[in-house]
Amino acid sequence: MTTTPDAADTTGLGEIERGAGRVHVDDKAMINARADVNQLLPLKYHWAWEKYLAGCANHWMPTEVSMQADIALWRSPNGLTADERHAIKRNLGFFATSESLVANNVVLAVYRNITNPECRQYLLRQAFEEAVHTHTFEYICSSLGLDEGELFNMYREVPSITDKAAWALKYTKSLEDPEFRTGTPEADQAFLRDLVAFYVVFEGMWFYTGFAQILSLGRRNKMVGIAEQYQYILRDESIHLNFGIDAINQIKIENPHLWGEAFQAEVRTMLAEACELEIAYGRDTMPNGLLGLNAELCEQYMRFITNRRCAQLGLEPVFAATENPFPWMSEAVDLKKEKNFFETRVTEYASGGTLDWD
Ligand SMILES: [Fe+2]
Ligand SMILES: [Fe+2]
Repeated sequence: MTTTPDAADTTGLGEIERGAGRVHVDDKAMINARADVNQLLPLKYHWAWEKYLAGCANHWMPTEVSMQADIALWRSPNGLTADERHAIKRNLGFFATSESLVANNVVLAVYRNITNPECRQYLLRQAFEEAVHTHTFEYICSSLGLDEGELFNMYREVPSITDKAAWALKYTKSLEDPEFRTGTPEADQAFLRDLVAFYVVFEGMWFYTGFAQILSLGRRNKMVGIAEQYQYILRDESIHLNFGIDAINQIKIENPHLWGEAFQAEVRTMLAEACELEIAYGRDTMPNGLLGLNAELCEQYMRFITNRRCAQLGLEPVFAATENPFPWMSEAVDLKKEKNFFETRVTEYASGGTLDWD
């Protein structure tokens, strides 16, 4: 026999229940599950398992990408404009600690509240990928000889970056309490807010301006090593985002009482606020604009992305319909389509790019 929800061991580290009945697929659930979380099979959420396999197929390491061209350009006095250097440094500063914030949220907040083993299997893979991404910024920092104190403190010292990190941290704070448990509508909604803040906003909106900035430079043959690394990160992040969207939508299906009108309005407000923070970040990183890219285009792009995220969550759009000013960004997601995106060596790992991740 399975245990009651109250007595269920949601960590997987509780006492073994001798003589308990075997796990049935129907017992498995995203949150507050009764089924033993140590038993991967039988699989219930094939979408989670597929993302685990796709993540593994996309394996890469930052040190496999040559930084020679970037180092030469960075050192050359006329290689980059002052505006380009400013944008690159702020961009790297934003990502350098954001990858750790996202990783800490996955490991310390999301993992213990998701009570499904195939989702946990994906989260373990995602956690490793976030470590690879943080490694990337260590590698870029040491390759270019950047001031590591400046880079890794930007999230505390540059207001447009601090504002974003502080906004997201509000939502992981309630989960940080060791006494936090899902199982009440209030707690379950707090958990959903955390998933929205990190998967949809942080990884699904805020990373995308940063990707556009660096990939735009890469398209002009500038900082091609970093651009190649960002393309791999983008490929990983598009799966992280889609895992988050699928997880939220599955929780909605299983717990429709959590997704009422008031809560939907709250989530739309969260996305609108996040979009405004990103617009401010765009202005701060590109006060004078770069060739082919400026704060106004990034603002339009972020409104487009915000509406897209609303649609993925089944919400009404926040803004009037707008065109994607960077159509090349969706091409960049799929390495198979754009093997010679930067005309540099692209290590083509077995790709899981058969699904639409953007
Ligand atoms: Fe990441
Ligand atoms: Fe991520």
